[in-house]
Amino acid sequence: MTRTASHPAVRAAAPFHPADHDDAWWRSAVIYQIYPRSWADSDGDGMGDLPGITARLEHLQYLGVDAIWLSPFYTSPQADAGYDVADYRDVDPRFGALADADALLARAHELGLKVIVDLVPNHSSDEHAWFRAALAAGPGSPERDRYIFRDGRGPAGDEPPNNWDSVFGGSAWTRVTEADGTPGQWYLHLFDPKQPDFNWDHDEVRAEFESVLRFWLDRGVDGFRVDVAHGLVKQPGLPDWHNRTHMLGETDEAAAHVLDKVKPQPTNLSPYWDQDGVHEIYRSWRRVLDSYGTPARILCAEAWVEPQERAVLYTRPDEMHQAFNFDFLGTPWVAEDLVAVIERSLEAADSVGAPSTWVLSNHDVVRHATRLGYAPGTKRKNGIGADDPQPDRARGLQRARAATTLMLGLPGGAYLYQGEELGLPESTTMPDEFRQDPTFVRTGGEELGRDGCRVPIPWTKDAPGFGFGPSDRTWLPQPEVYGDYAVDQQRGVAGSTLELYRTLLATRAELGLGRASLALVEGYAADVVALEAAGPESGRVLVLANLGDEAVELPAGADVVAASGPLADGRVPTDTTVWARLA
Ligand code: GLC
Repeated sequence: MTRTASHPAVRAAAPFHPADHDDAWWRSAVIYQIYPRSWADSDGDGMGDLPGITARLEHLQYLGVDAIWLSPFYTSPQADAGYDVADYRDVDPRFGALADADALLARAHELGLKVIVDLVPNHSSDEHAWFRAALAAGPGSPERDRYIFRDGRGPAGDEPPNNWDSVFGGSAWTRVTEADGTPGQWYLHLFDPKQPDFNWDHDEVRAEFESVLRFWLDRGVDGFRVDVAHGLVKQPGLPDWHNRTHMLGETDEAAAHVLDKVKPQPTNLSPYWDQDGVHEIYRSWRRVLDSYGTPARILCAEAWVEPQERAVLYTRPDEMHQAFNFDFLGTPWVAEDLVAVIERSLEAADSVGAPSTWVLSNHDVVRHATRLGYAPGTKRKNGIGADDPQPDRARGLQRARAATTLMLGLPGGAYLYQGEELGLPESTTMPDEFRQDPTFVRTGGEELGRDGCRVPIPWTKDAPGFGFGPSDRTWLPQPEVYGDYAVDQQRGVAGSTLELYRTLLATRAELGLGRASLALVEGYAADVVALEAAGPESGRVLVLANLGDEAVELPAGADVVAASGPLADGRVPTDTTVWARLA
Protein backbone atom coordinates (compact mmCIF):
# COMPACT_ATOMS: atom_id res chain seq x y z
CA MET A 1 0.00 0.00 0.00
CA THR A 2 1.25 3.43 -0.81
CA ARG A 3 1.25 6.12 1.76
CA THR A 4 0.50 9.65 0.84
CA ALA A 5 1.52 12.72 2.70
CA SER A 6 0.31 15.50 0.54
CA HIS A 7 -0.10 17.90 3.43
CA PRO A 8 2.53 16.92 5.92
CA ALA A 9 2.62 19.09 8.98
CA VAL A 10 5.92 20.83 9.43
CA ARG A 11 7.09 20.68 12.99
CA ALA A 12 8.43 23.84 14.57
CA ALA A 13 11.64 24.70 12.79
CA ALA A 14 13.25 26.24 15.86
CA PRO A 15 15.55 23.40 16.90
CA PHE A 16 16.79 22.94 13.38
CA HIS A 17 17.85 26.38 12.30
CA PRO A 18 21.58 26.69 11.79
CA ALA A 19 23.25 29.46 13.72
CA ASP A 20 22.86 32.68 11.84
CA HIS A 21 26.51 33.53 11.46
CA ASP A 22 28.85 34.82 8.82
CA ASP A 23 29.08 32.95 5.56
CA ALA A 24 32.63 31.72 6.01
CA TRP A 25 33.48 29.01 3.48
CA TRP A 26 34.01 26.22 5.99
CA ARG A 27 30.51 26.45 7.47
CA SER A 28 29.05 24.54 4.55
CA ALA A 29 32.15 23.14 2.80
CA VAL A 30 32.35 19.64 1.38
CA ILE A 31 35.84 18.36 2.12
CA TYR A 32 37.29 15.29 0.39
CA GLN A 33 39.77 13.14 2.29
CA ILE A 34 42.77 11.91 0.33
CA TYR A 35 44.75 9.08 1.85
CA PRO A 36 48.07 9.73 0.10
CA ARG A 37 49.26 6.12 0.17
CA SER A 38 46.26 5.05 -1.86
CA TRP A 39 45.00 7.76 -4.15
CA ALA A 40 47.44 7.86 -7.08
CA ASP A 41 51.00 6.70 -7.63
CA SER A 42 53.26 8.66 -9.97
CA ASP A 43 56.43 6.55 -9.88
CA GLY A 44 55.25 2.95 -10.00
CA ASP A 45 56.46 1.85 -6.57
CA GLY A 46 52.93 0.84 -5.60
CA MET A 47 52.59 3.59 -2.98
CA GLY A 48 50.64 6.75 -3.75
CA ASP A 49 52.50 10.06 -3.64
CA LEU A 50 52.09 13.83 -3.85
CA PRO A 51 52.91 14.20 -7.56
CA GLY A 52 50.32 11.47 -8.20
CA ILE A 53 47.75 13.50 -6.31
CA THR A 54 48.63 16.73 -8.08
CA ALA A 55 48.29 15.07 -11.46
CA ARG A 56 44.79 13.88 -10.67
CA LEU A 57 43.33 16.88 -8.81
CA GLU A 58 41.18 17.67 -11.77
CA HIS A 59 39.01 14.69 -10.76
CA LEU A 60 38.01 16.66 -7.67
CA GLN A 61 37.19 19.78 -9.59
CA TYR A 62 35.00 17.58 -11.81
CA LEU A 63 33.43 16.10 -8.69
CA GLY A 64 32.71 19.55 -7.27
CA VAL A 65 34.15 19.49 -3.74
CA ASP A 66 35.38 22.63 -1.97
CA ALA A 67 38.51 21.35 -0.29
CA ILE A 68 40.74 18.37 0.27
CA TRP A 69 42.12 16.98 3.50
CA LEU A 70 45.36 15.05 3.12
CA SER A 71 46.19 12.33 5.63
CA PRO A 72 49.85 12.59 6.77
CA PHE A 73 52.60 12.68 4.14
CA TYR A 74 55.38 13.75 6.54
CA THR A 75 58.68 11.98 7.15
CA SER A 76 57.71 8.78 8.91
CA PRO A 77 58.76 5.16 9.31
CA GLN A 78 55.11 4.37 8.52
CA ALA A 79 54.49 2.23 11.58
CA ASP A 80 50.93 3.59 11.56
CA ALA A 81 50.72 4.58 7.91
CA GLY A 82 52.18 8.03 8.54
CA TYR A 83 50.35 8.84 11.79
CA ASP A 84 53.80 8.32 13.33
CA VAL A 85 55.62 11.49 12.34
CA ALA A 86 59.41 11.73 12.54
CA ASP A 87 59.67 15.24 11.07
CA TYR A 88 56.66 17.55 11.05
CA ARG A 89 58.28 19.94 8.60
CA ASP A 90 59.23 17.63 5.78
CA VAL A 91 57.71 15.23 3.27
CA ASP A 92 58.53 11.54 3.43
CA PRO A 93 60.58 10.48 0.37
CA ARG A 94 57.92 7.83 -0.34
CA PHE A 95 55.50 10.67 -1.01
CA GLY A 96 57.89 13.18 -2.59
CA ALA A 97 59.61 16.29 -1.30
CA LEU A 98 58.61 19.68 0.10
CA ALA A 99 58.62 21.09 -3.43
CA ASP A 100 55.95 18.51 -4.33
CA ALA A 101 53.81 19.70 -1.44
CA ASP A 102 54.19 23.27 -2.70
CA ALA A 103 53.27 22.19 -6.22
CA LEU A 104 50.22 20.35 -4.93
CA LEU A 105 49.09 23.40 -2.99
CA ALA A 106 49.57 25.66 -5.97
CA ARG A 107 47.67 23.38 -8.34
CA ALA A 108 44.83 22.84 -5.88
CA HIS A 109 44.43 26.56 -5.34
CA GLU A 110 44.51 27.11 -9.09
CA LEU A 111 41.59 24.69 -9.36
CA GLY A 112 39.73 26.48 -6.58
CA LEU A 113 40.29 23.72 -4.02
CA LYS A 114 41.36 24.52 -0.49
CA VAL A 115 43.88 22.22 1.18
CA ILE A 116 43.76 20.94 4.74
CA VAL A 117 46.64 18.92 6.13
CA ASP A 118 46.75 16.48 9.02
CA LEU A 119 48.39 17.46 12.29
CA VAL A 120 49.38 14.67 14.69
CA PRO A 121 50.06 16.32 18.07
CA ASN A 122 49.32 13.52 20.54
CA HIS A 123 52.41 11.54 19.68
CA SER A 124 55.40 11.53 17.38
CA SER A 125 57.30 8.64 15.87
CA ASP A 126 59.91 7.01 18.07
CA GLU A 127 62.26 8.04 15.26
CA HIS A 128 61.59 11.75 15.87
CA ALA A 129 64.78 13.62 16.86
CA TRP A 130 63.26 14.55 20.23
CA PHE A 131 62.48 10.96 21.14
CA ARG A 132 65.91 9.78 20.10
CA ALA A 133 67.40 12.52 22.25
CA ALA A 134 65.16 11.47 25.12
CA LEU A 135 66.39 7.88 24.92
CA ALA A 136 70.00 8.98 24.77
CA ALA A 137 69.74 11.52 27.59
CA GLY A 138 68.48 9.13 30.25
CA PRO A 139 66.07 9.28 33.21
CA GLY A 140 65.33 12.68 34.74
CA SER A 141 66.70 14.61 31.76
CA PRO A 142 64.90 17.59 30.21
CA GLU A 143 64.81 15.61 26.95
CA ARG A 144 62.73 12.84 28.56
CA ASP A 145 60.35 15.41 29.97
CA ARG A 146 59.01 16.20 26.48
CA TYR A 147 57.47 12.71 26.46
CA ILE A 148 55.85 10.69 29.26
CA PHE A 149 58.55 8.54 30.85
CA ARG A 150 58.02 6.87 34.23
CA ASP A 151 59.75 4.27 36.35
CA GLY A 152 58.07 0.88 36.32
CA ARG A 153 56.13 -0.61 39.20
CA GLY A 154 57.25 -3.59 41.21
CA PRO A 155 60.54 -4.11 43.05
CA ALA A 156 62.53 -4.40 39.82
CA GLY A 157 60.48 -1.76 38.01
CA ASP A 158 59.55 -4.37 35.46
CA GLU A 159 55.80 -3.76 35.53
CA PRO A 160 54.23 -0.89 33.58
CA PRO A 161 53.70 2.35 35.55
CA ASN A 162 49.90 1.93 35.30
CA ASN A 163 47.35 -0.37 33.72
CA TRP A 164 46.44 1.66 30.63
CA ASP A 165 45.88 -0.23 27.39
CA SER A 166 46.91 0.89 23.93
CA VAL A 167 44.08 1.65 21.49
CA PHE A 168 45.79 -0.82 19.17
CA GLY A 169 45.87 -3.59 21.81
CA GLY A 170 48.33 -4.57 24.56
CA SER A 171 49.82 -2.27 27.18
CA ALA A 172 50.15 1.46 26.56
CA TRP A 173 53.68 1.34 28.02
CA THR A 174 56.96 0.09 26.62
CA ARG A 175 60.16 -0.28 28.59
CA VAL A 176 63.35 1.12 27.16
CA THR A 177 66.88 -0.14 27.42
CA GLU A 178 69.06 2.60 28.86
CA ALA A 179 72.29 3.67 27.18
CA ASP A 180 74.30 1.42 29.51
CA GLY A 181 72.31 -1.63 28.40
CA THR A 182 70.23 -2.00 31.58
CA PRO A 183 66.42 -2.27 31.50
CA GLY A 184 65.19 1.23 32.08
CA GLN A 185 62.14 3.48 32.29
CA TRP A 186 58.83 3.05 30.51
CA TYR A 187 57.23 5.48 28.07
CA LEU A 188 53.55 5.97 27.34
CA HIS A 189 52.03 5.31 23.92
CA LEU A 190 48.25 5.35 23.66
CA PHE A 191 48.75 3.85 20.20
CA ASP A 192 51.66 1.80 18.81
CA PRO A 193 54.98 1.53 20.72
CA LYS A 194 56.43 3.46 17.79
CA GLN A 195 54.12 6.39 18.68
CA PRO A 196 55.31 7.83 22.02
CA ASP A 197 52.88 10.37 23.54
CA PHE A 198 54.11 13.92 24.00
CA ASN A 199 53.98 15.60 27.39
CA TRP A 200 51.63 18.49 26.71
CA ASP A 201 52.41 20.05 30.10
CA HIS A 202 55.76 21.00 28.60
CA ASP A 203 56.15 24.51 27.19
CA GLU A 204 58.51 23.36 24.47
CA VAL A 205 55.94 20.91 23.13
CA ARG A 206 53.36 23.70 22.99
CA ALA A 207 55.75 26.11 21.31
CA GLU A 208 56.87 23.48 18.83
CA PHE A 209 53.35 22.79 17.58
CA GLU A 210 52.53 26.46 17.20
CA SER A 211 55.66 26.68 15.11
CA VAL A 212 54.61 23.66 13.02
CA LEU A 213 51.23 25.31 12.42
CA ARG A 214 52.97 28.42 11.16
CA PHE A 215 55.32 26.40 8.99
CA TRP A 216 52.43 24.94 6.99
CA LEU A 217 50.30 28.10 7.11
CA ASP A 218 53.22 30.01 5.65
CA ARG A 219 53.34 27.47 2.81
CA GLY A 220 49.69 28.24 2.11
CA VAL A 221 47.58 25.51 3.68
CA ASP A 222 43.98 26.36 4.51
CA GLY A 223 43.69 24.39 7.70
CA PHE A 224 44.42 21.33 9.79
CA ARG A 225 42.60 18.16 10.71
CA VAL A 226 43.76 17.51 14.26
CA ASP A 227 44.49 13.86 15.02
CA VAL A 228 43.32 12.43 18.38
CA ALA A 229 42.39 15.94 19.50
CA HIS A 230 40.85 14.58 22.70
CA GLY A 231 44.00 12.79 23.87
CA LEU A 232 46.72 15.36 24.41
CA VAL A 233 46.25 16.08 28.10
CA LYS A 234 46.47 13.29 30.67
CA GLN A 235 45.12 13.36 34.22
CA PRO A 236 47.86 14.26 36.72
CA GLY A 237 49.28 11.20 38.47
CA LEU A 238 48.26 8.95 35.56
CA PRO A 239 45.82 6.90 37.67
CA ASP A 240 44.84 3.35 36.74
CA TRP A 241 41.73 3.02 34.61
CA HIS A 242 39.60 -0.06 34.50
CA ASN A 243 37.63 0.55 31.37
CA ARG A 244 38.33 -0.07 27.74
CA THR A 245 40.55 2.14 25.63
CA HIS A 246 39.02 1.62 22.20
CA MET A 247 38.07 4.60 20.11
CA LEU A 248 37.98 3.37 16.53
CA GLY A 249 35.29 1.32 14.90
CA GLU A 250 33.08 1.12 17.96
CA THR A 251 30.60 3.20 16.13
CA ASP A 252 27.42 1.26 16.73
CA GLU A 253 28.05 1.74 20.39
CA ALA A 254 28.64 5.47 19.99
CA ALA A 255 25.35 5.90 18.20
CA ALA A 256 23.58 3.82 20.81
CA HIS A 257 24.77 6.36 23.35
CA VAL A 258 23.40 9.27 21.42
CA LEU A 259 20.12 7.49 21.04
CA ASP A 260 19.94 6.77 24.77
CA LYS A 261 19.77 3.06 24.04
CA VAL A 262 22.79 2.57 26.23
CA LYS A 263 23.61 4.86 29.11
CA PRO A 264 26.36 7.12 27.84
CA GLN A 265 29.69 6.76 29.55
CA PRO A 266 31.23 10.22 29.34
CA THR A 267 34.59 9.88 27.63
CA ASN A 268 36.25 12.24 30.09
CA LEU A 269 35.86 9.74 32.93
CA SER A 270 38.94 8.15 31.44
CA PRO A 271 42.22 9.71 32.63
CA TYR A 272 43.50 10.27 29.09
CA TRP A 273 40.55 11.22 26.89
CA ASP A 274 38.76 14.55 26.74
CA GLN A 275 40.46 16.19 29.69
CA ASP A 276 39.42 19.82 30.14
CA GLY A 277 43.01 20.99 29.68
CA VAL A 278 42.96 20.31 25.93
CA HIS A 279 40.76 23.33 25.26
CA GLU A 280 43.39 25.85 26.27
CA ILE A 281 45.70 24.36 23.63
CA TYR A 282 43.12 24.82 20.89
CA ARG A 283 42.43 28.39 21.98
CA SER A 284 46.09 29.18 21.48
CA TRP A 285 46.07 27.51 18.06
CA ARG A 286 42.97 29.44 17.04
CA ARG A 287 44.82 32.67 17.78
CA VAL A 288 47.61 31.54 15.47
CA LEU A 289 45.19 30.66 12.67
CA ASP A 290 43.18 33.85 13.07
CA SER A 291 46.36 35.88 12.72
CA TYR A 292 46.44 34.73 9.07
CA GLY A 293 43.26 36.70 8.37
CA THR A 294 40.59 35.78 5.84
CA PRO A 295 39.56 33.53 4.25
CA ALA A 296 39.66 31.63 7.52
CA ARG A 297 42.25 28.92 8.04
CA ILE A 298 40.45 26.15 9.90
CA LEU A 299 40.89 23.46 12.53
CA CYS A 300 38.83 20.28 12.55
CA ALA A 301 38.93 18.02 15.60
CA GLU A 302 39.15 14.28 15.40
CA ALA A 303 37.67 13.76 18.87
CA TRP A 304 35.87 10.52 19.67
CA VAL A 305 33.99 12.09 22.58
CA GLU A 306 30.72 11.25 24.27
CA PRO A 307 28.30 12.79 25.03
CA GLN A 308 27.81 15.11 22.09
CA GLU A 309 27.43 18.08 24.46
CA ARG A 310 31.09 17.64 25.36
CA ALA A 311 32.18 16.92 21.80
CA VAL A 312 30.89 20.29 20.63
CA LEU A 313 32.98 22.11 23.23
CA TYR A 314 35.87 21.66 20.80
CA THR A 315 34.04 23.97 18.41
CA ARG A 316 33.34 26.89 20.68
CA PRO A 317 33.93 30.22 18.92
CA ASP A 318 37.50 30.60 20.16
CA GLU A 319 38.56 26.98 19.58
CA MET A 320 38.26 24.77 16.52
CA HIS A 321 35.95 25.46 13.62
CA GLN A 322 34.67 21.94 13.15
CA ALA A 323 34.68 18.51 14.75
CA PHE A 324 33.89 15.23 13.04
CA ASN A 325 30.41 13.98 13.80
CA PHE A 326 31.18 10.33 14.47
CA ASP A 327 27.71 9.79 15.92
CA PHE A 328 26.27 10.27 12.46
CA LEU A 329 28.82 7.88 10.97
CA GLY A 330 27.88 5.26 13.54
CA THR A 331 24.12 5.51 13.24
CA PRO A 332 22.46 2.35 12.00
CA TRP A 333 20.26 2.52 8.90
CA VAL A 334 17.13 3.10 10.95
CA ALA A 335 14.99 6.16 10.23
CA GLU A 336 14.16 7.16 13.79
CA ASP A 337 17.81 6.82 14.81
CA LEU A 338 18.93 8.97 11.92
CA VAL A 339 16.35 11.63 12.74
CA ALA A 340 17.40 11.62 16.39
CA VAL A 341 21.09 11.97 15.54
CA ILE A 342 20.50 14.70 12.99
CA GLU A 343 18.32 16.65 15.40
CA ARG A 344 20.73 16.29 18.30
CA SER A 345 23.77 17.09 16.19
CA LEU A 346 22.26 20.33 14.96
CA GLU A 347 21.12 21.33 18.43
CA ALA A 348 24.44 20.49 20.05
CA ALA A 349 26.47 22.34 17.42
CA ASP A 350 24.11 25.28 17.54
CA SER A 351 24.51 25.53 21.30
CA VAL A 352 28.10 26.69 20.71
CA GLY A 353 27.36 28.62 17.52
CA ALA A 354 29.09 26.07 15.27
CA PRO A 355 27.75 24.31 12.19
CA SER A 356 27.47 20.56 12.45
CA THR A 357 29.53 18.31 10.23
CA TRP A 358 28.58 15.02 8.64
CA VAL A 359 30.69 12.03 7.66
CA LEU A 360 30.03 8.44 6.66
CA SER A 361 33.47 7.01 5.85
CA ASN A 362 37.15 7.61 6.56
CA HIS A 363 40.45 5.72 6.66
CA ASP A 364 39.71 4.22 10.10
CA VAL A 365 36.32 2.57 9.59
CA VAL A 366 34.70 0.06 7.25
CA ARG A 367 33.47 1.87 4.12
CA HIS A 368 29.79 2.76 4.32
CA ALA A 369 28.92 0.96 1.07
CA THR A 370 29.97 -2.20 2.92
CA ARG A 371 28.74 -1.36 6.45
CA LEU A 372 25.27 -0.77 5.08
CA GLY A 373 25.35 -4.14 3.32
CA TYR A 374 24.72 -5.81 6.68
CA ALA A 375 21.43 -5.83 8.58
CA PRO A 376 21.06 -2.62 10.66
CA GLY A 377 22.59 -2.98 14.10
CA THR A 378 24.85 -5.92 13.14
CA LYS A 379 27.73 -5.99 15.61
CA ARG A 380 31.16 -6.43 14.13
CA LYS A 381 34.75 -5.70 14.90
CA ASN A 382 36.60 -3.11 12.87
CA GLY A 383 37.74 -4.89 9.70
CA ILE A 384 36.20 -7.73 7.71
CA GLY A 385 37.99 -10.87 6.52
CA ALA A 386 37.25 -13.66 4.08
CA ASP A 387 36.04 -15.90 6.91
CA ASP A 388 33.52 -13.35 8.17
CA PRO A 389 29.94 -13.09 6.92
CA GLN A 390 30.12 -11.11 3.69
CA PRO A 391 27.96 -8.04 3.05
CA ASP A 392 25.19 -7.79 0.48
CA ARG A 393 27.13 -5.58 -1.91
CA ALA A 394 24.24 -4.38 -4.08
CA ARG A 395 22.11 -3.49 -1.09
CA GLY A 396 25.07 -1.83 0.61
CA LEU A 397 25.64 0.36 -2.42
CA GLN A 398 22.00 1.28 -2.75
CA ARG A 399 21.85 2.28 0.91
CA ALA A 400 25.19 4.07 0.72
CA ARG A 401 23.90 6.20 -2.14
CA ALA A 402 20.74 6.92 -0.15
CA ALA A 403 22.74 7.71 3.00
CA THR A 404 25.04 10.11 1.13
CA THR A 405 22.07 11.82 -0.53
CA LEU A 406 20.59 12.32 2.92
CA MET A 407 23.90 13.57 4.32
CA LEU A 408 24.55 16.09 1.56
CA GLY A 409 21.06 17.50 2.01
CA LEU A 410 21.89 18.54 5.57
CA PRO A 411 23.17 21.97 6.62
CA GLY A 412 26.78 22.27 7.76
CA GLY A 413 30.08 20.84 6.56
CA ALA A 414 30.46 17.38 5.06
CA TYR A 415 33.45 15.09 4.72
CA LEU A 416 33.84 12.52 1.94
CA TYR A 417 36.43 9.75 1.89
CA GLN A 418 38.27 8.92 -1.32
CA GLY A 419 36.53 6.23 -3.34
CA GLU A 420 33.11 6.70 -1.81
CA GLU A 421 32.20 8.80 -4.84
CA LEU A 422 32.69 5.57 -6.80
CA GLY A 423 30.53 3.55 -4.40
CA LEU A 424 33.67 1.60 -3.62
CA PRO A 425 33.16 -1.31 -1.22
CA GLU A 426 35.61 -2.34 1.48
CA SER A 427 38.09 -5.05 0.59
CA THR A 428 36.51 -7.83 2.66
CA THR A 429 38.57 -10.78 1.48
CA MET A 430 42.13 -9.53 1.88
CA PRO A 431 44.50 -12.37 2.82
CA ASP A 432 45.99 -11.71 6.25
CA GLU A 433 49.56 -11.79 4.95
CA PHE A 434 48.98 -8.40 3.30
CA ARG A 435 47.63 -6.66 6.39
CA GLN A 436 49.69 -3.75 7.65
CA ASP A 437 47.53 -2.07 10.28
CA PRO A 438 49.28 -2.28 13.66
CA THR A 439 45.93 -3.20 15.23
CA PHE A 440 46.05 -6.54 13.43
CA VAL A 441 49.41 -7.46 14.92
CA ARG A 442 48.83 -6.02 18.40
CA THR A 443 45.50 -7.80 18.88
CA GLY A 444 46.95 -11.07 17.59
CA GLY A 445 44.62 -10.90 14.60
CA GLU A 446 41.53 -10.61 16.76
CA GLU A 447 40.82 -7.25 15.16
CA LEU A 448 41.60 -7.31 11.45
CA GLY A 449 42.01 -3.56 11.38
CA ARG A 450 41.69 -0.86 8.82
CA ASP A 451 43.52 -2.05 5.71
CA GLY A 452 40.25 -2.95 3.97
CA CYS A 453 39.24 0.70 3.56
CA ARG A 454 42.74 1.80 2.49
CA VAL A 455 43.14 -0.14 -0.74
CA PRO A 456 44.44 1.86 -3.74
CA ILE A 457 41.79 3.58 -5.83
CA PRO A 458 40.78 2.16 -9.24
CA TRP A 459 41.00 4.78 -11.99
CA THR A 460 40.96 2.71 -15.17
CA LYS A 461 39.41 -0.72 -15.50
CA ASP A 462 41.67 -2.09 -18.21
CA ALA A 463 45.02 -1.04 -16.84
CA PRO A 464 47.54 -2.66 -14.51
CA GLY A 465 46.63 -1.85 -10.90
CA PHE A 466 43.42 -0.39 -12.32
CA GLY A 467 45.40 2.69 -13.28
CA PHE A 468 46.57 3.48 -9.74
CA GLY A 469 50.04 4.14 -11.14
CA PRO A 470 52.31 3.37 -14.05
CA SER A 471 53.04 -0.18 -12.84
CA ASP A 472 50.90 -3.05 -11.60
CA ARG A 473 52.16 -2.59 -8.05
CA THR A 474 49.80 -1.58 -5.26
CA TRP A 475 50.84 -1.63 -1.59
CA LEU A 476 47.63 -3.48 -0.73
CA PRO A 477 45.97 -5.88 -3.18
CA GLN A 478 42.91 -4.56 -5.03
CA PRO A 479 39.90 -6.88 -5.16
CA GLU A 480 39.08 -7.97 -8.71
CA VAL A 481 35.69 -6.32 -8.50
CA TYR A 482 37.31 -2.88 -8.08
CA GLY A 483 37.70 -2.68 -11.87
CA ASP A 484 33.95 -2.27 -12.22
CA TYR A 485 34.06 0.75 -9.92
CA ALA A 486 36.93 2.48 -11.74
CA VAL A 487 36.58 6.18 -12.50
CA ASP A 488 36.67 5.53 -16.26
CA GLN A 489 33.66 3.20 -15.93
CA GLN A 490 31.62 5.93 -14.28
CA ARG A 491 32.68 9.30 -15.59
CA GLY A 492 29.92 10.68 -17.80
CA VAL A 493 27.80 7.54 -17.30
CA ALA A 494 24.27 8.48 -16.31
CA GLY A 495 23.20 6.82 -13.08
CA SER A 496 26.74 5.98 -11.95
CA THR A 497 27.66 6.74 -8.37
CA LEU A 498 30.26 9.26 -9.54
CA GLU A 499 27.62 11.15 -11.50
CA LEU A 500 25.22 10.94 -8.56
CA TYR A 501 27.82 12.60 -6.31
CA ARG A 502 28.41 15.28 -8.95
CA THR A 503 24.72 16.02 -9.18
CA LEU A 504 24.39 16.15 -5.42
CA LEU A 505 27.35 18.48 -4.98
CA ALA A 506 26.31 20.80 -7.79
CA THR A 507 22.69 20.92 -6.61
CA ARG A 508 23.71 21.38 -2.99
CA ALA A 509 25.84 24.35 -4.01
CA GLU A 510 23.23 25.81 -6.32
CA LEU A 511 20.45 25.59 -3.73
CA GLY A 512 22.67 26.57 -0.81
CA LEU A 513 21.60 23.46 1.11
CA GLY A 514 24.72 23.63 3.29
CA ARG A 515 23.38 26.91 4.69
CA ALA A 516 19.67 26.22 4.69
CA SER A 517 17.52 25.86 7.77
CA LEU A 518 15.95 22.49 8.35
CA ALA A 519 12.66 21.27 9.75
CA LEU A 520 11.38 17.79 10.40
CA VAL A 521 8.34 16.97 8.32
CA GLU A 522 5.73 14.98 10.17
CA GLY A 523 3.04 12.85 8.68
CA TYR A 524 5.22 10.16 7.13
CA ALA A 525 5.66 6.61 8.39
CA ALA A 526 8.24 5.87 11.08
CA ASP A 527 10.66 4.32 8.59
CA VAL A 528 10.91 7.51 6.54
CA VAL A 529 13.26 10.41 7.21
CA ALA A 530 11.53 13.54 5.91
CA LEU A 531 13.17 16.92 6.32
CA GLU A 532 12.45 20.26 4.80
CA ALA A 533 15.33 22.54 3.96
CA ALA A 534 14.57 26.20 3.37
CA GLY A 535 16.77 29.06 2.37
CA PRO A 536 16.97 32.09 0.15
CA GLU A 537 18.53 30.19 -2.74
CA SER A 538 16.65 26.94 -2.39
CA GLY A 539 13.11 27.87 -1.54
CA ARG A 540 11.60 24.80 0.15
CA VAL A 541 13.31 21.48 -0.55
CA LEU A 542 12.05 18.14 0.75
CA VAL A 543 14.87 15.74 1.64
CA LEU A 544 13.20 12.36 1.96
CA ALA A 545 14.88 9.02 2.66
CA ASN A 546 12.71 5.93 2.54
CA LEU A 547 14.07 3.13 4.70
CA GLY A 548 10.80 1.20 4.69
CA ASP A 549 9.44 -1.46 2.37
CA GLU A 550 6.63 0.57 0.88
CA ALA A 551 7.25 3.16 -1.82
CA VAL A 552 6.49 6.69 -0.61
CA GLU A 553 4.47 9.20 -2.57
CA LEU A 554 5.80 12.73 -2.90
CA PRO A 555 3.63 15.79 -2.24
CA ALA A 556 1.73 17.14 -5.23
CA GLY A 557 3.87 19.47 -7.33
CA ALA A 558 7.16 18.26 -5.85
CA ASP A 559 9.94 18.67 -8.39
CA VAL A 560 12.65 16.02 -7.91
CA VAL A 561 16.08 17.62 -8.37
CA ALA A 562 18.21 14.68 -7.21
CA ALA A 563 17.58 11.04 -6.36
CA SER A 564 19.90 8.32 -5.11
CA GLY A 565 18.21 5.77 -7.38
CA PRO A 566 15.34 5.40 -9.84
CA LEU A 567 11.86 6.27 -8.67
CA ALA A 568 8.96 3.86 -9.14
CA ASP A 569 6.06 5.59 -10.89
CA GLY A 570 7.08 8.85 -9.28
CA ARG A 571 7.23 7.27 -5.83
CA VAL A 572 10.32 6.85 -3.69
CA PRO A 573 11.21 3.16 -3.33
CA THR A 574 13.01 1.38 -0.48
CA ASP A 575 16.51 2.57 0.42
CA THR A 576 16.23 5.63 -1.77
CA THR A 577 16.61 9.33 -0.94
CA VAL A 578 15.31 12.22 -3.01
CA TRP A 579 15.60 15.97 -2.95
CA ALA A 580 12.45 17.62 -4.27
CA ARG A 581 11.64 21.30 -4.58
CA LEU A 582 8.26 22.11 -3.15
CA ALA A 583 5.88 24.50 -4.76
C1 GLC B 1 43.68 8.78 14.41
C2 GLC B 1 43.90 8.41 12.98
C3 GLC B 1 44.28 6.97 12.91
C4 GLC B 1 45.56 6.78 13.69
C5 GLC B 1 45.41 7.28 15.12
C6 GLC B 1 46.73 7.41 15.79
O1 GLC B 1 42.60 8.11 14.95
O2 GLC B 1 42.76 8.70 12.23
O3 GLC B 1 44.44 6.53 11.59
O4 GLC B 1 45.90 5.42 13.71
O5 GLC B 1 44.83 8.55 15.15
O6 GLC B 1 47.45 8.48 15.26
